[in-house]
Amino acid sequence: MKALEEKILKEGKVLPGNVLKVGSFLNQQMDSDFIMEIGNEIARLFSGEKITKVLTVESSGIALAVAAGIALHVPSVFAKKHKSANMSKEVYTAAVYSYTHKETYEIAVAKEYLGKDDVVLIVDDFLANGNAVRGLMKIVEEAGARLCGCAIAIEKGFQGAGDELRAQGIRIESLAIVESMTDESVTFRA
Ligand code: G4P
Repeated sequence: MKALEEKILKEGKVLPGNVLKVGSFLNQQMDSDFIMEIGNEIARLFSGEKITKVLTVESSGIALAVAAGIALHVPSVFAKKHKSANMSKEVYTAAVYSYTHKETYEIAVAKEYLGKDDVVLIVDDFLANGNAVRGLMKIVEEAGARLCGCAIAIEKGFQGAGDELRAQGIRIESLAIVESMTDESVTFRA
């Protein structure tokens, strides 16, 4: 998605540790129209699928999942990282190791929101090491639902997870794939 690459080049900042900061439009501040453009593009890419649910994990994935859900006219569900008192006890769970935070946390989705008749599209803002996506895939499997693919805004291609998942036969559609980045430049996969 050319517009996303241009936005990254214009507003993104490369921080130490190979972190791409996109807080001005995708993470902390959301560019509403642009988020909706991403949602529409995701819906266009997966228009051949009979998707019934969009699935993401809190927190940064939620805006994109909602935009995709609006464009696809289906509900979006997010996995919670923190147990809350009002959450059902009937949950699907998966352990996710965060490479960035060096810790394992549990994600959970209430069983009432995902089931065997669902066709699920996983959406997330970043695909780095792929642990969040793998955790969400485990939850889809546990639910007995069908995964039709994953839509990612920014894949960090040099971290390899996207290509590993593609090699496993998972459909991964990333709207921008960063091949390399330095303080001065960000290069995208052609
Ligand atoms: P993984 O999910 O692909 O395995 O990624 P990893 O453990 O490396 O990343 C942990 C968190 O950091 C994830 O968010 C991921 O989206 C985010 N992340 C990874 N690389 C970058 C980057 O270059 N830039 C930015 N802005 N984020 C990155 P999270 O912990 O689930 O947090 P959040 O969704 O609550 O923000």
